[in-house]
Amino acid sequence: MNKRFFITTAIDYVNGQPHLGHAYEKIITDVIARSRRSLGQEVFFLTGLDEHGQKVQQAAVAEGKTPQAYCDELAADWKAFAKKLELTNDDFVRTTEPRHKEFVQAILANLHAAGQFYKETYKGFYSTKEETFLTDKDRLPDGTFDPAYGEVIELEESNYWFKLRDHQQWLIDYLEANPSFVQPDYRRNEVLGFLKNSMLEDLCITRPAARLNWGIPLPFDKDFVTYVWFDALVNYISIPAAHGDPLSGLGSGVLVPGDGTGTAKPQTPDAKSQLQLWPADLHVIGKDILKFHAVFWPIMLKAMGLPLPKQILVHGWWQKEGAKISKSTGNIVDPVAVIDEWGLDAFRFYVLRELDIGPDGNWTDAGFRARYQAELANGLGNLVNRSLSMLKRYRNGVVPARHDELAAAAAKAADETHALLKQNQLQAALHSIWGLVTRANQYVDQTAPFKLAKDPAQAKRLDEVLYNLAETCRVLAVLLWPFLPGTATKIYAQLGLSGTPDKFSEATWGGLQPGHKIGEPAPLFPRKDG
Ligand code: ME8
Ligand code: MG
Repeated sequence: MNKRFFITTAIDYVNGQPHLGHAYEKIITDVIARSRRSLGQEVFFLTGLDEHGQKVQQAAVAEGKTPQAYCDELAADWKAFAKKLELTNDDFVRTTEPRHKEFVQAILANLHAAGQFYKETYKGFYSTKEETFLTDKDRLPDGTFDPAYGEVIELEESNYWFKLRDHQQWLIDYLEANPSFVQPDYRRNEVLGFLKNSMLEDLCITRPAARLNWGIPLPFDKDFVTYVWFDALVNYISIPAAHGDPLSGLGSGVLVPGDGTGTAKPQTPDAKSQLQLWPADLHVIGKDILKFHAVFWPIMLKAMGLPLPKQILVHGWWQKEGAKISKSTGNIVDPVAVIDEWGLDAFRFYVLRELDIGPDGNWTDAGFRARYQAELANGLGNLVNRSLSMLKRYRNGVVPARHDELAAAAAKAADETHALLKQNQLQAALHSIWGLVTRANQYVDQTAPFKLAKDPAQAKRLDEVLYNLAETCRVLAVLLWPFLPGTATKIYAQLGLSGTPDKFSEATWGGLQPGHKIGEPAPLFPRKDG
């Protein structure tokens, strides 16, 4: 059984429609998944929805629906959204699915049997919005709690707690010994700073069913449901298990999905669909959920006897026009509206080119239009359109003899892109690819094929120029495939090539054969007025 490159997004709360931040995370994950496939790896890309917990229950109640009916309706929208973004995800998890719920219950039963939990009454301040108990450390200098916590109430209740304290030191050691575990570095330092400067509090892993019943029932105590984060994080292994992943580290195979009663049963995975996925190669998440992924999740896995994910890649947050994205103030970017107006690849390009994975970003409508015009329409679009139109006009669309004037520039872009994709440096890779676009556009201006065409004595030179341009367009299609799959496919089709440019190995110079007849050129990025 071959281990696949297993890559995940966070699973989104299904308490509204997808927004720019969700779209961004899915697109960067999709580009990484596509680029690994292009580079020859077998990939499994998982995304989905986090459907339990208070946020979802409240949103459902506000619409007068049962939580399940509410989730079912919205799940259809979110699945359609994944299609709209042309994500190449291999599965889509919903945490209300039996395959996930049963697995969570099996884990809870197992950890409980292993003495990892204890029950205790706790009195403290509770943020309903964030579904979490707050401590004095969460107070602002003036003694109040940050308004981000919403209404804070005093609560006294009994719950099950997961012992975290014993885990502090090994996790610090692990983060120090494995600098690539959390990327970028400043995010790793943030986790280390947190772990070194405060004592880990035990994690409350239940909510009393009397207060919140929209959750996975605790297998060993019917008065409780599972805390939504304990439930949600487990999606990263419940779905591999559902695909027959042996999860080889899992307590010598004792811990397998049960029937909800807490008795784990021997697992008989469907042999033909058996995949080896865990450990994940990459969890892609936003900066706000770093602690859950870099502290709680590794500790949960260690307690289960499972290996840790190889890397957590943390992206920043988008603002719009310099202000927080907010439904209530109407400061939003509707990804679907942008895609319908400008095309999917224009949307993918802007978010990937504008923001490196790590810092925060700022969407501006003017910036979007400027990139569309300069880099897509006048840059890539113009290059492909004039290169192929001239080949059509002057040579009836027939590729002339091979010539290598731009071969070195193409090889440089391909080599750089290859190296950058391996490091998930998507913005830098686009920068490098556009270096080739710019070089080729300059080449048109310098060689002036439209003048060469007027002089029969220059026929051979014109052949050379036309070959270099057409072949550069072909190489660009291959390099662009992970980022702009629709555009890359169109370039291939206009070159009269069948199939999709989805193999990086084809970025090697010289693929276009002399005598090959290209297809019909058409503008890739139509000009927009206004
Ligand atoms: O946190 N810019 O779900 P979520 C960039 N269910 N990214 C943003 C963003 C913005 N303005 N707003 C949100 C949850 N995100 C949990 C995750 S994982 C086991 C459970 C990102 O819907 C955010 O950082 O609130 C997170 O990675 C993802 O969208 C889902 O956020
Ligand atoms: Mg959130």
